[in-house]
Amino acid sequence: MDALKQAMASAAVDVEATLQKVMESEDEPERRLFDSMRYAALGGGKRLRPFLVMQGAGLFSVSRKSARRAAAAIELVHCYSLVHDDLPAMDDDDLRRGKPTVHKAFDEATAILAGDALLTLAFEVLSHPDTHSNPEVRCMLVAALARAAGAHGMVGGQMIDLAAADREMDIGEITRLQRLKTGALIGFACEAGAILGQAGEPQHEALRGYAHDLGLAFQIADDLLDVEGTAEEVGKAVGKDADQGKATFVSILGPERARDQATMLVEQAAAHLAIFDEKADFLRKVAQYIVERRS
Ligand code: IPE
Ligand code: IPE
Ligand code: MG
Ligand code: MG
Ligand code: MG
Repeated sequence: MDALKQAMASAAVDVEATLQKVMESEDEPERRLFDSMRYAALGGGKRLRPFLVMQGAGLFSVSRKSARRAAAAIELVHCYSLVHDDLPAMDDDDLRRGKPTVHKAFDEATAILAGDALLTLAFEVLSHPDTHSNPEVRCMLVAALARAAGAHGMVGGQMIDLAAADREMDIGEITRLQRLKTGALIGFACEAGAILGQAGEPQHEALRGYAHDLGLAFQIADDLLDVEGTAEEVGKAVGKDADQGKATFVSILGPERARDQATMLVEQAAAHLAIFDEKADFLRKVAQYIVERRS
């Protein structure tokens, strides 16, 4: 296994343990809710956002425990976004991470509640003193994740995405859509380490620039896989964007130019990291992985 894969696997193990711990439950009447949350969040996914948090934290000598908790928080929000994204009222998908979606394995109402509970749990995790001894830092994390997840970020992007099914969009509009839908949470993942490490503005700025380009490249890769991947590889249905008439980078530029665009963005992303030493090497490498991935 190459070093990047190994580092990603190790971050995934760390975050899995933390997620397990924060979702423990007794045998209570609401047990079904916890089962659905665990079903949604455990044992799957690339864990890319947690990896970005852990690597970002590594630049500023943040404790592993703090990094792990912030990593778990962003993954909880990401998993909630997937559960709701898959609902019949949204993308109406049956397969996620290689298994039936939460509303298929449980039911729609439970999937809505699982999403609600995963989202709120993320903020409970961030605001707990175990995440950072300084309450001001915890408050900054909470504010940054709230902004990234909500109407100015992911949820706002999902709203535009619904509209993208019914009308033509130009490249500027799609860029904004993707920046909100996917870029905002990736942005939080990249900057969380700098918040935990109370880094200076130039460091924040560099990570924001990196995340901006990485987020776009990531979504272009997702759109390409929807066209070129198989359900077996990606663990979710493919061909959905075209079926739903969704405007994406790929539908507008065609696969070839979309891939070129992603490659250019990846180079640009890595260039933002010039102020960091070799501690940022995995961040440089993961940008490449993002466009080459088959899952
Ligand atoms: C899928 O995200 C949803 C998008 C934002 C495109 P990932 O590709 O990171 O999904 P997992 O976490 O690996 O399942
Ligand atoms: C969803 O984008 C991004 C979220 C905010 C969950 P997609 O709808 O393209 O994600 P997939 O392809 O279902 O994973
Ligand atoms: Mg969607
Ligand atoms: Mg979807
Ligand atoms: Mg997609």
